Amino acid sequence: MSEGLDDVVAARTVLSEVDGHAGRLVIRGWTLDQLVGRTRFEEIARLLFDGFFDDLPQDLTSALGAARAKVFEEVQAVDDGLLALGPVEAMRALTARLPDGDDLDTALALLAAPAVFTPAIVRLQAGEAPIAPDAALGHAADILRMLHGRPAAAGQAEALDAYLVTVCDHGLNASTFAARVVASTRAGLTSAVLAGISALKGPLHGGAPGPVIEMLDAIGRPENARPWIEADLDRGERLMGFGHRIYRVRDPRADALKGAVRRLAGQSDRLPGRLAFAEAVEAAALAILKEHRPGRPLDVNVEFFTALLLEALAFPPAAFTGVFAMGRTAGWLAHAREQLAGGRLIRPQSVYVGPTPLKAA
Ligand code: ACO
Repeated sequence: MSEGLDDVVAARTVLSEVDGHAGRLVIRGWTLDQLVGRTRFEEIARLLFDGFFDDLPQDLTSALGAARAKVFEEVQAVDDGLLALGPVEAMRALTARLPDGDDLDTALALLAAPAVFTPAIVRLQAGEAPIAPDAALGHAADILRMLHGRPAAAGQAEALDAYLVTVCDHGLNASTFAARVVASTRAGLTSAVLAGISALKGPLHGGAPGPVIEMLDAIGRPENARPWIEADLDRGERLMGFGHRIYRVRDPRADALKGAVRRLAGQSDRLPGRLAFAEAVEAAALAILKEHRPGRPLDVNVEFFTALLLEALAFPPAAFTGVFAMGRTAGWLAHAREQLAGGRLIRPQSVYVGPTPLKAA
């Protein structure tokens, strides 16, 4: 038995490979640095979907724009009960209204869902009216427009595209596994994506970047980093944005995102200082983790610089996981279709360690 399924291989995939020793991520034959900064989200989604859907257009831009416009109709269903939820739970609830299915239209609606619902919910929770999608825009530019209520500033859509591409797929991580398990029962793509969102929101997976901001704000100044981090570890806490099940070296996505933050930093007065502070906290954390766990390589993961990038794009921390879902849904959908195409029902076994039934007298 393997607690946590370490080293268990449970799927064959053509989608992505995570090499935890080399610190390398390959997505359909391309390394992460060959893709980030050169690929828009629509293109990476097309790359992931290729071979898994009939009649896939060469360019998904207009089909995805139309899907955004269509799913926006669901925003009318938002009520006070839904707005009392956190933005990720509210986005999940709206996504659950979409019909199940296995075809490309269902997949495009699911790809559009977190991108449309997250900005709408953030605005409604701030007392502002939601903004309808502009189907003619690129996906990233439209998400920022729906969030901010004005066209994205120079460099912002490119930064969001860099983020969405960076997180689009990552081997058999917890949420992708959850999505594949549900897909293997033939429940449909909506059910598989809802399983993915539910697994993603936990802080040990995609729920970490909000707490990264809380940590940075609690530390406040570079000189506070060491005492704050040591006290946190002494309480038995885990440092958010550090450590990974597969990577034994630096997560390559962390540097892809740090690069995207640096490119954005040239256009903001506040960001260079915030980035320098985060780098000081990162350096302190790495040194302290080495002292605390000399036998365990713990390095920075994708979530640390995710937090900085999404903060710079003015997403509220409570919505960060919803933005993660905007990218990762592409991977979940491709994995779900791959599972349906070749995989069997996923049904592992457990070892019973409960009481033995009493013998009948
Ligand atoms: N801070 C302090 N200690 C840590 C951390 C951390 N961030 N990460 C791991 N450790 C410790 C564990 O407590 C464990 O100690 P123990 O054996 O005494 O219990 C030891 O290091 C070994 O941990 P791993 O086996 O490498 O960790 P695991 O694979 O179970 O967990 C995980 C990986 C969940 C990502 C973990 O590193 C963690 O909790 N990180 C903080 C949360 C976080 O950043 N989540 C985002 C992950 S990236 C993503 O999913 C998109």
